[in-house]
Amino acid sequence: MTNNIIETVKIKEIKDECDGVKTFVFERNDTTAPKPGQFVMIWVPGVDEIPMSISSYKENGEWAITVKNLGECTNSIHELNVGDYIGVRGPLGNFFQIPEEANENIFLIGGGIGMVPLRFLASELVKLKYKFKLIEGAKVETEVLFANEFLEYHQEDLEFNFCTDDGSFGEKGVATDLFKKIIRNLDLEEIKNSVVYTCGPEIMMYKIFQICKENKIEMYASLERIMRCGCGLCGLCVLDPLGLLVCNDGPVFSSHLLAEMEDFGKFKRDFSGKKIPL
Ligand SMILES: Cc1cc2nc3c(=O)[nH]c(=O)nc-3n(C[C@H](O)[C@H](O)[C@H](O)COP(=O)(O)OP(=O)(O)OC[C@H]3O[C@@H](n4cnc5c(N)ncnc54)[C@H](O)[C@@H]3O)c2cc1C
Ligand code: FES
Repeated sequence: MTNNIIETVKIKEIKDECDGVKTFVFERNDTTAPKPGQFVMIWVPGVDEIPMSISSYKENGEWAITVKNLGECTNSIHELNVGDYIGVRGPLGNFFQIPEEANENIFLIGGGIGMVPLRFLASELVKLKYKFKLIEGAKVETEVLFANEFLEYHQEDLEFNFCTDDGSFGEKGVATDLFKKIIRNLDLEEIKNSVVYTCGPEIMMYKIFQICKENKIEMYASLERIMRCGCGLCGLCVLDPLGLLVCNDGPVFSSHLLAEMEDFGKFKRDFSGKKIPL
């Protein structure tokens, strides 16, 4: 099935994750298996069509999205019940490139709703029996996403580090400081073999990018921009000065490309296309 055809799906299950965040599970006829980092356009008839990262995927055709209630369309998704229908278009965009060998020192670093694509990535790494270190930052305990699920992974060599601004869950502090603290204890060989996958507030990802640059660590960040078409037509998600589109060329960008992007960490575009500070 073509990625750009809307498929109508029935909501099978709804789960409350944390304050203002719910996961919606549905089954698809589309047999295209998505990859971690890809997104779908979710259409709520009469409201809007908006981008959502793929939160999980099972081989039996079961997909999930995890939605933070932020505005008109996300609010209308939160009001849906099991048995209601939504439109799904995708999987769209590129994805996190998983190292071919398990000997890399893999970091997953996320904050807030940015944990959604990292949840899918973590589950794939567990399937591959890859070891990784996860760092999750949130403002308060009630905003920590998927913690119970992560802690249920009974695989050796997995490290889960949580931090909150007020210290109500995990360490007190922010994800970037925790990352700095962890790499300070690594030897040069471990740093050389490290790779970072990140998603979350862009200011956080920009700081991680700077830490990675100082330490010569390869990094992949999943960026968010306002999207209309999700498929390269409207130009709303363009990044200056390379003209890359978050929907078609991203949402995942390597540190090599991020280094050339003037917009990264500084500017986004509003619904009219006007450039505004982040
Ligand atoms: C690739 C991608 C993946 C995403 N994955 C998820 C996800 O897994 N879960 C999730 O909850 N959200 C995700 N988002 C963000 C989500 O698409 C927006 O929150 C949503 O479009 C807001 O729509 P709304 O009608 O509810 O809000 P609106 O009423 O349109 O706006 C409410 C506020 O949100 C801001 N906003 C609107 N669209 C975006 C956007 N695309 N990015 C950032 N801010 C926006 C507006 O400027 C405004 O301040 C993703 C965005 C992108 C680009
Ligand atoms: S959302 Fe239209 S070009 Fe990217």
